[in-house]
Amino acid sequence: MSTLRSAQWYVGDDRNAYIHRAWMRRGLPADAFDGTRPHIAIANTASALVPCNMHLTEVARSVADGVHEAGGIPLEMPVMGLGETLVRPTAMLWRNLAAMQMEEMLRANPVDAVVLLGGCDKTIPSLLMAAASVGIPALVVPGGPMLSGTFRGKPLGCGTDVWKLSEDVRGGGMSEEDFLASESSMIRSKGHCNTMGTASTMGLVAEALGMVMPGLAGTPGPDARLLEGAHMSGRRIVEMVAEDLTPEKVITEASMHNAIVALAAIGGSTNAVVHLLAIAGRLGLETSLDDFDRLGADVPLLVNFQPSGAHLMDDLFRAGGFQAVLREVQDLLDPGALTISGRPLVDHLDKARTWDHDVISPREEPLQEKAGIAVLRGSLAPGGAIVKPSAATPGLLQHRGPAVVFDSIEDFHARIDDPGLEVDENSVLILRGCGPKGYPGMPEVSNMPLPRKLLERGVRDMVRICDGRMSGTAYGTVILHVVPEAADGGPLALVRTGDMIVLDVAARRLDVDVDPAELAVRAPSEATVNALARPERGWAKLYVEHVTPASTGADLDFLVGASGHEVTRESH
Ligand code: FES
Repeated sequence: MSTLRSAQWYVGDDRNAYIHRAWMRRGLPADAFDGTRPHIAIANTASALVPCNMHLTEVARSVADGVHEAGGIPLEMPVMGLGETLVRPTAMLWRNLAAMQMEEMLRANPVDAVVLLGGCDKTIPSLLMAAASVGIPALVVPGGPMLSGTFRGKPLGCGTDVWKLSEDVRGGGMSEEDFLASESSMIRSKGHCNTMGTASTMGLVAEALGMVMPGLAGTPGPDARLLEGAHMSGRRIVEMVAEDLTPEKVITEASMHNAIVALAAIGGSTNAVVHLLAIAGRLGLETSLDDFDRLGADVPLLVNFQPSGAHLMDDLFRAGGFQAVLREVQDLLDPGALTISGRPLVDHLDKARTWDHDVISPREEPLQEKAGIAVLRGSLAPGGAIVKPSAATPGLLQHRGPAVVFDSIEDFHARIDDPGLEVDENSVLILRGCGPKGYPGMPEVSNMPLPRKLLERGVRDMVRICDGRMSGTAYGTVILHVVPEAADGGPLALVRTGDMIVLDVAARRLDVDVDPAELAVRAPSEATVNALARPERGWAKLYVEHVTPASTGADLDFLVGASGHEVTRESH
């Protein structure tokens, strides 16, 4: 009697087994269905509209070769992908939909395990959320970063340099013509963004979680070694079926601990916080927002990468790779956390070496002593907010200044360059209505461009506060993921232009210096309320009615947890 899940569909002499086999044969031999060979889904997020993942179809072929070689049956399965730069209003609105459709299709189909092919920002998080909820053996093959672009002799980092160059244009330091000339140099090859943005971060963090073949994350998309790693991943997933090595055995509080330490050491994207919390929620882990501060805040920054530093992802690979970074912080990692290899993460680090200390700093000489994400609370963010000190201006981490408030990103764009806007470098820009419910979907708008008149005076950073997210490639003293969001009754909706805002990152405080009694009787203005989204149908309506706060992962409340992989009722 086969123990394979797929055998429930294929093995037997009855009419249903006949139907399942007959429609799937199409050239496959009879022993593909005798319950001895695991059926491996290869979940592929490639699409012409997900340009960072287009090459994953080639990667899928290498996975399939490995699966075949190990005796499995590879089944490539297109799943929803999200092109971060394209989809409106924001890819984050669709992360949970991508996770839900993938979860349901994995559960509905006769597969024993899944290889997850992702890259662009939301794809690896949605794949991991789905696999965690279904509970069949799974591993990730990250699509890898693109090669570094160059423009006029200098490296060009996608994302980060777009923000920098466009600020230069607005500040008068670069012509529009030169700006546009850099466009064709930015995306040089297949792969995802080459800065330490969300895609790079999530590929590396997935390895720290134990869900990637150790040493594979960060391999550039065009590098032949990515295909070799994909091939080996195909072999490994077949073994994992025999070992019943499911995601809940790999993704544990111990591996979340490792992911948080790694996130800090690489100066990774703030978006990883909301994604890791969502993945933890699927598995019922205790990991919380405060763990990012508790476990990560004192971890040193070891990679000199955009947006916090100078280099790009193929430099990390050349300099020794992610494992060389992990080796530097090995004593901070949980030694018990398993990987999909069946062995702990720390067991794989002995051979790691750093070949370029300008890219990966030794632990004794970090780029910053304490680089992890800080979690702030106070009268402006009772449920928490986060800041990434490694991407901020140190002098602004303690600041008191008057608020300049915007009710929406449209309001912001309409007024920010108005010469009459009362704003100076001490002002605190506040943007609200950008949380999961308010926008909807929590877009990456928190790193608001600075007012033109201040840019022209050479100001390059200001304190900015928002209930949305920011791109992992962005930088600045930006306080984001404010909870509760303005659309969920948060005090952010009550702040008025001119109120004094007090930020003290060392004390982990974010306050509005208004008498609590006065704040308690304030109500959001009509303009504030009118700026909030009220979708009336479709996914957006479902999303707004069920999305949880950023501080718990912005998942849908009915998707938290797992349903397992059992489906007993037949379709005919
Ligand atoms: Fe796809 Fe940056 S746009 S990873």
